[in-house]
Amino acid sequence: MKAIVYSAYGTADVLKMADVEKPAPADNEVLVKIRAASINAPDWRVMSGRPSVMRLMFGLRKPKIRPGIDMAGEVEAVGKNVTQFKPGDAVFGVCKGSFAEYACQTQARLAAKPENITFEQAAATPVCGFTALQGFRDYGHLQSGQRVLMNGASGGVGTFAVQIAKALGANVTAVCSTHNVDMVRSLGADRVIDYTQADFTKETQTYDIIFEHAGNHSATAYKRILNPSGISVMAGVPHNMSLLGLMKHMMTALALSRLGKQKFVPFIAKANQTDLVTLAEMMAAGKITPTIDKTYPLSETAEAMRYVDTGHARAKVVITV
Ligand SMILES: NC(=O)c1ccc[n+]([C@@H]2O[C@H](COP(=O)([O-])OP(=O)(O)OC[C@H]3O[C@@H](n4cnc5c(N)ncnc54)[C@H](OP(=O)(O)O)[C@@H]3O)[C@@H](O)[C@H]2O)c1
Repeated sequence: MKAIVYSAYGTADVLKMADVEKPAPADNEVLVKIRAASINAPDWRVMSGRPSVMRLMFGLRKPKIRPGIDMAGEVEAVGKNVTQFKPGDAVFGVCKGSFAEYACQTQARLAAKPENITFEQAAATPVCGFTALQGFRDYGHLQSGQRVLMNGASGGVGTFAVQIAKALGANVTAVCSTHNVDMVRSLGADRVIDYTQADFTKETQTYDIIFEHAGNHSATAYKRILNPSGISVMAGVPHNMSLLGLMKHMMTALALSRLGKQKFVPFIAKANQTDLVTLAEMMAAGKITPTIDKTYPLSETAEAMRYVDTGHARAKVVITV
């Protein structure tokens, strides 16, 4: 089968299409014929091998795993212990190496694709959907009626986060640049701030939850605009932040959380079937609709990754297989 592989750590030039062995499902696995995959921040972080401490986990000379996490497709075969899926079912979820024609995964990382959603939209959902859902629900403890701010609202995570916060009953202020204002407003944001025109950290408006993933403001700036028992949910940092910068960012957050009632909470989203089903139900009910910026064929994955690596992709970038 065709799959995208790495030749080394580096820029998108290290991505090549190659012929690799088609996987066979183990007893507890589902073999999925992939119809679409999508690019996420962890894909370009692993590809670049930055910060370099990551190489201890992913391989010293080049990544040990093939790229791609999110996927959607059709079940081609199942292992003998798989009870939830059968050949022909349309599914979406996560796997290792989704920039490929086939992948195997256990049923606990897959869910049925809603019928009203395309394979491209389903493949756009898992990682960004988990991050937005878990960020607001589990780490922000969002209650209906709370006022939240989403910085980086036009990105992959941001476009899900705006819709999920609205679905959970929040009053949403979203921050993006000029050319994304209309798109972000169409997702349901109550107020949109153009970061090229105004600095929201200098305003008097305060928030119960700040969902941060652009990483371009300090925790101390957020402290000023958080309500006394507000929570800053910290999902991301800038593309090029050094290991030292990252450590300083985290230490400041930890220190500020200890000093008062406001909380600064870094987190990494976890893949699980319950949340995939929740996201599927929200999509089926029309509460969230994945937004896709561009689609590229599998053979142009490197080009797609170059585009995402600019840091200014609009919502999700999808690979069709
Ligand atoms: N914690 C987790 O589990 C988890 C999971 C996934 C991702 N993440 C993190 O979340 C972050 C975002 O991921 P993503 O997939 O959403 O990235 P993305 O799609 O590449 O985000 C790009 C978006 O960021 C916006 N942006 C860039 N600079 C900005 C600024 N100064 N202020 C506000 N918005 C700005 C861009 O909008 P403009 O073009 O308008 O500037 C663009 O729409 C990354 O740091 C990633 O590592 C964390």
